[in-house]
Formats: sequence, C-alpha cells, structure tokens
Amino acid sequence: MQAQTDQGVTLQIRADQITAKMPPTFHGLMTEEINYAFEGGLYAELIRNRNFKESVPERRNRQNPQQSRPAKEPKDLVHWSLVQERGGTGSMMLDTGMPLNPSVPASLKLTISQASGNQMVGIANDGFWGIPVRPNTTYKAMFYAKAAGGFAGGVTLSIVSNDGTTIAATAQVPKISDSWQKYEATLKTGNAKASAGNKFVLSTNRPGTIWIGFVSLFPPTYKERPNGFRQDLMQLLADMKPEFLRFPGGNYLEGNTFETRFNWKNTIGPIEQRPGHMNDAWGYWSSDGMGLLEYLGWCEDLNMEPVLAVFAGYSLRGQKVKSGPELEKFVQEALEEIEYVTGDTSTTWGARRARDGHPAPFKLRYVEVGNEDFFDREKGSYDARFTVFFDAIKAKYPNLQVIESAGFTSNSVTTRTPDVYDDHYYRSADEMVMHANDYESRRRTGPKVMVGEWATRVGAPTPNMEAAIADAANMAGFERNADVVIMHCYAPLFVNVNPGAMQWTTDLIGYDAMTSYGSPAYWAQQMFANHHGDAVVSFTVANLPYREWQPPARRVGPPGAANANTSGLVPATPQPVSLPEMFFSVTKDTTGGTIYTKVINRSGKAQSVHIVLSGLTSVAAAAKTITLSASAPTDTNSITEPNKIVPVTAAVAGASLDFTRTFPPYSITVLEMNGK
Ligand code: AHR
Repeated sequence: MQAQTDQGVTLQIRADQITAKMPPTFHGLMTEEINYAFEGGLYAELIRNRNFKESVPERRNRQNPQQSRPAKEPKDLVHWSLVQERGGTGSMMLDTGMPLNPSVPASLKLTISQASGNQMVGIANDGFWGIPVRPNTTYKAMFYAKAAGGFAGGVTLSIVSNDGTTIAATAQVPKISDSWQKYEATLKTGNAKASAGNKFVLSTNRPGTIWIGFVSLFPPTYKERPNGFRQDLMQLLADMKPEFLRFPGGNYLEGNTFETRFNWKNTIGPIEQRPGHMNDAWGYWSSDGMGLLEYLGWCEDLNMEPVLAVFAGYSLRGQKVKSGPELEKFVQEALEEIEYVTGDTSTTWGARRARDGHPAPFKLRYVEVGNEDFFDREKGSYDARFTVFFDAIKAKYPNLQVIESAGFTSNSVTTRTPDVYDDHYYRSADEMVMHANDYESRRRTGPKVMVGEWATRVGAPTPNMEAAIADAANMAGFERNADVVIMHCYAPLFVNVNPGAMQWTTDLIGYDAMTSYGSPAYWAQQMFANHHGDAVVSFTVANLPYREWQPPARRVGPPGAANANTSGLVPATPQPVSLPEMFFSVTKDTTGGTIYTKVINRSGKAQSVHIVLSGLTSVAAAAKTITLSASAPTDTNSITEPNKIVPVTAAVAGASLDFTRTFPPYSITVLEMNGK
C-alpha cells in the first residue's frame, strides 16, 4: 500500500477477483464464567447461593496468584438473611444433619419461635445485586423443603422491596410436608415499578422448624427455555448472528487445580443435584446451573455450532499430568463428553443426554484440546498430551476437527498436525493496529486458524470507540484472509457492571440486574457479522494516510547487564512505527451482487476515498452506508448511557463504477453497493 499524497485515498476494487470464500462459521462467541457472565448474567436464575454452598469469594491476588486467599467455608449463609416481622422471632443456620441430597450436604434450618397472625418469620435472598422486578411479569419459583413433625403452616413466597414497603408479587404454598418435597409456584407482578432493589422472601406465620434444601426463581427466559437465559442478553447476542460458540473457557475450563476444573459430569442433570464448584480461576462460586446441556441449548437457541473445549490435564496453577495412565482418565472424560454431545440414544452418554431432556444429538465439528496450553512451559509437555487426545478423538470420531490450544509459540505441537490453530491476543489499540495486517503473511498451507480470544483492551468495564476502531481494523484483516482465518471470537463477552463483579476489564457487553448494553466494540462485531457476502474480493489502496507511533519500551536482556534497570533487565528501545490510519476489506454476495466495503477511519479527520470498481458492468446509484462513529476516541457506551454510540444507516445517492465518498473521523463504515 502506498503512502498518502494530496490526492486523497484511492480504493480500487476488482469485483471479479475472488480471493477466498467466506467460511460458514466465521463470526462466533467465546464464553466462560468470568465477570459474573452466567451467575448474575446470562443464566437467568435470580437466587444467589441457591443450595447454600456458596462461600465468601476467593480474594484474588493477580500479581501473585500463589498469595490469593482461598474462599472461606460456607458457614455464613451468604446472600441469605433472616426475616422477622411485626413481632415474629426465629433463627436460621446451616444444618449438615439434614441434607437434601449428597450434592447439597447442608440445608438451611429455619426455626420459628414466635409467629402468628401477621407476625412473619422467614428467609430473604438478595439475588445478584438485587432481584429485578418488572411490571406484568410472571416468575417461576421452586424450592425443596421439609418441616419438623407437627408444623401446621405453609410458606408465603414474595418479591419485596428492600425497605420492606412494597410487595411486587406473592404466592402461597399451603402446607409443608415432613419429608423432603419439591414445591413450585408462580408469582405475577401487576403494575409494579421496574426496579432491582428487591429481595425474594420465603416466610411463614406458624411456629416450628422448616428445612430448606434449595431455592430457585426464574423470570421469563429467552424462547421460554426452562433453566434458560436472560432475554435482553440473548437478544443482543442474536443480533450479532453468531455462527459458533467456543465454551466453556478460557481459564474457567482449567480451574486453578484439577478439583476446580469445569468437570462436565457435575454440571448435568436436575439443578438441585448439581453440587456447583468454586470458580477459583475467577474467584467466585458457580452453581453450575449453566452446565454442559445449557451451553448446548444456548447454541440451539441462537443457531450456533458448538466449539467444545475439553479439559486436557493441565490447570492454571501448573497442576498437570504427563501423558500416560494418569492422563487416560481425562482422555476418557473427553471422549464421554463428546458422546454426551453427539451420541445417539443407544450410547451410554447419548442415553443420559436423552434422560436429561434432549434426545436428539447435537451437531459437533470442532473440539479444542485444553486452553492456552502455551502456559505449560515444560518443553514437549503439551505436545505429548495433545498427541494422546488427538489420537483418541480421531480414532473414535474421525470427522471431528481437533483444535490445539498453544498457538504458534515455542510450545506449538509438532508430533501431530492439528486441524486448526487457536490464536489468542489482547492488545492496546496501537498494537492491534500494528498487527492488523499480520494474517496477510501467514502461511497459506497447513492448519487453519481460529482466533479463539482477542480484543483491543481500551476502556472499562467495556471498550470505547478507540478499541472498537482497532477491533474493526483487525476484523478487516480476518475478512481479507478468510482463506486462513476461518473462525474468530472476541473475549470476554460479558461483564456485570456492579461493583466487585468484574475480574477482567474491557468486555463486549455490560449489564446489571435490570438492563444491558452493547459497547462500541459490540456494534463493530455486529456490523461485520451482519454485513458480508459469501466471497472475499481483491482490492488495492493508494495514498493511505499514516501516523507515527512509538511503541513502549520493553524489558529485554539479561539481569546484571551494565545498563540493567531495577528489575534487572535491559530496556529495549523499539523503532517508531508508521501505522495506517485507514483499513479496508471487501466481500461480495456472489448470487445477489451486493458488494460490502468496510472502511475504517482511525484518524480525527474526515477522509475522502476515491472508489473505483472493475470487473462489473455497472453499480446502482442508490447504495447505503452503516456507520459507527464518535466525536472522540474515548467516547463510549455505559449502563447509564447505553446508546451513545450506535450504527446509523443512511442512503447514498450517486454510487457508480468511479465515485468519491467521504468517511467521518473515528468511524467504521460498511458501504453496501449493488453491482452487476
Ligand atoms: O478472556 C480472559 C482470559 O484470557 C481467558 O480466560 C484466558 O483464556 C485468557 O488468558
């Protein structure tokens, strides 16, 4: 590409020259339990600590993980409080002597000493930063309880404002039996005021003792899926038209230790029988309500293909097994997991999936072995583990594509050829732009690439416009190189914006208990996924504007060198780099003739582009643009200003085989033209 002269930029599109087919699963989602992505996020359960096993969260020390403080024992009944009203008195405690089932070894014992008439005693749950109330909404409640012999009362369920003054919805269970039983009720709000400042209360006005084993409350879910997903978040995702879902991690797959990995067998079956686990990778409890079948249901709801990452015998704090008999256990676990996903009902795990409510097998084409195994620095360690997994998976499922997780690093696998490499990178805006053309020089033969985690990390909790523009520059690179990059998914996907909920800054979609929003980077993803053809088109650019960038000094060199700094390393002084201010990609719809031209203007001034098309007889004068722009790169969306930056669609008159169009400062534009 040539540097800019006074004539402005020229974009020469060769519409008859196709360089690649757009892959069928190009734009996807990456997901894991981080930033309360599911607990208090996508998974619509409103009760926090529903089986009383949650403990005070782990205090993470990011600088020194070994000094993280482990979670405290669950003796404090976190998120539950005692309700005593109008003279009612009682107490609550964890009772290990009255377990609901082996997965829920302690129940909540509620002792009601004094209650009668309108005197009430009960327990209240504060939810995930509140229980959201919306008008004219039906909530489904479920709980397990038993009473000591002689208890004559029932239980009132209610959603009550935190100050106790407003009851938004209520329901009655008339009698509690003296053996464990499941109780279900619906609660309907009327003309209630929308608010998150509420709690969920189970109470009674009779003295006695009740044990509660499990409590659940769901609002309406997306497509009414039982044990399903929050509607607004699913709609944001559906609007991205994702083609695949990479799950369940990320670090969440691995856990800090084997004990806290995503142990898929503990995440299936009735929710009251799932033990849950400490998500120590991110420092909080997971109910595992979001289990393997729920991830697959999520795929089904949004018509996405699952990309299943299996645990590969390596955890974050370095616990690992060598290839050999110990690894076999995990290989077997992975094969069974694949059978649970894909097996018909004549197989053991396919039959189990059918019993769990989904007789039809799921389509699965991609399995990833581990996550970021480049962190296993022992030479050859991942290679050896990958080899065993690869051979076992290919032997039983020859049609599955196996993805490695070490990327192109010194730990890349050598003994087998993976079907796909998984690249991960998180960068500053300038670094992202500096690398935006990297895939042009990636080798064209051998394994394809899934960019399984990537993001421009500028902005918190969600990325700002500067990040979105650098992301778009990078995505244009993916599109131009779709013969090599066959899949990509931004990470992390979600952040609950409440104080204390975020472990990782710069996440695509933000929310609290009531509302949600897409960041500018979300809109960039949406624009790319919604506006592309089935083929990549060749083009050249002349007179490109550039900006000088001085990369930050890096610490390299040996400790003890004469010019070493306090950390003992020699600072490197990189050369300044010329970064392009504009980026492009072009795709076309080979049947309909639409040409989708993406133009990214990173600069603070409007850029005029002379667009010349060849390989067509004509271009319709009427075209359109979809533009995301901001007045400053720091502009962003937030929970209080969710729609500050959103794409705007505009009609364009005067498109032709040779015309000029101006693109606004700090903008991402899709120009859609109809060619013949
Ligand atoms: O996306 C956040 C984390 O970044 C992922 O869990 C991990 O795979 C990567 O290091």
